[in-house]
Amino acid sequence: MSLSEIASRDGLGNRARTALVPAAGWGTRLRPLSDTLPKEMLPVGRRIVLERILDELSGAGFERVVFVVSPAKEPILKSRFGSKSEGIAIEYALQPEMRGLGDAVLCAAPHLSGESGFLVALGDAVFVEATPGALVSRLLAAESPLAIAVQRVAREKLSRYGIVKPTDAGGTSEGAFSICGLVEKPSPDEAPSEFAVAARYLVPATVLEELKSVRPGKGGEIQLTDALAALLTAGTPGAAVPLLPGEARHDIGSFETYYQAFAAFALADPEHGASLRRYLEELI
Ligand code: G1P
Repeated sequence: MSLSEIASRDGLGNRARTALVPAAGWGTRLRPLSDTLPKEMLPVGRRIVLERILDELSGAGFERVVFVVSPAKEPILKSRFGSKSEGIAIEYALQPEMRGLGDAVLCAAPHLSGESGFLVALGDAVFVEATPGALVSRLLAAESPLAIAVQRVAREKLSRYGIVKPTDAGGTSEGAFSICGLVEKPSPDEAPSEFAVAARYLVPATVLEELKSVRPGKGGEIQLTDALAALLTAGTPGAAVPLLPGEARHDIGSFETYYQAFAAFALADPEHGASLRRYLEELI
């Protein structure tokens, strides 16, 4: 189903036709592997990371994707994806310096003129879900200009993520809930909930204006979280969309989480998953 069909089914007009995939980072935690291959080109089971993300975006009806890349990565991604892949038109935006996720989004601004909103799908996270694109489809269906995928995380991991502030105390993992704030990587004591931003954001185009004035935040980087928090404070309605039971987010940014991602997809392989499970059981 095309995005415009999904949009009209969900009464969302023509909002968010374009998805940005920030994929410019150095991949330092995966060195020396990432010296040879961008982390977004690593295999997770039978598909490479960016193929899985394109499957997901095409499943949610997107027809246009902008990869945000460093000058060094651009030719490598272009040689695999060109200007069209999996039925999706592909464009490339350059992020010359690694100044943070907010800066990556701003670097794609020339590709977003005329859009009232767009999706941000982090290029180093893949999802296990019943149908590729189910989570992003729920963001589109949340009927909010700002909708963020979230997952509950343990208290000791809160400082690794952006954490949402529910409008009503006691946000629930049952379904979408309203949010009024967002904090990047807070200490557990300062965290406004246990719900962490999970790599997929539907954002209004007004975030681009906000990003131009946002100051460097956590880690000295231009944080998307800070610009979105400013929009929420100024009254933009926001929704958090929790992962459902059975859905999982896998980061591929470190060896620990990359191994887990590969194992999860390999074990789900229809042809070889069962024999891999037996092999691992014997090995352990
Ligand atoms: C980024 C975001 C953070 C989010 C995380 C996972 O952090 O800044 O808010 O929770 O992705 O989606 P990073 O992993 O780049 O440090």
